[in-house]
Amino acid sequence: MTFVVTEACIKCKYTDCVDVCPVDCFLEGPNTLVIDPMQCIDCAVCVPECPVSAIYADIDLPADQKEFEKINADISKSGEWPMINKKKDPMPEHEKWAEVKDKRQYLER
Ligand code: SF4
Ligand code: F3S
Repeated sequence: MTFVVTEACIKCKYTDCVDVCPVDCFLEGPNTLVIDPMQCIDCAVCVPECPVSAIYADIDLPADQKEFEKINADISKSGEWPMINKKKDPMPEHEKWAEVKDKRQYLER
């Protein structure tokens, strides 16, 4: 089992989640985060921290978000993105993008 960052994070990237993770398993990309499934200890403390409810346990992923399990795993495995464990400012237009659905197409690597 692992926890997974889903599309609600894209272009918002609030980063409240990273402050509470006890094992520093969030990785930061240009406009979203992922969770490294090899590091996540399934503690769930990050879930209520996300203002847009982007984080799910893999077994609870909504049907239209299941592809994010592989996205989180593949990006983590690639080593492309650095670890983030300190909260920073969200993205400039986070309020606008928090309302937008179907943001998968905007994920930047
Ligand atoms: Fe970190 Fe726990 Fe969230 Fe996994 S579930 S990403 S270990 S805070
Ligand atoms: Fe993304 Fe939510 Fe964390 S928007 S950066 S998963 S607090």
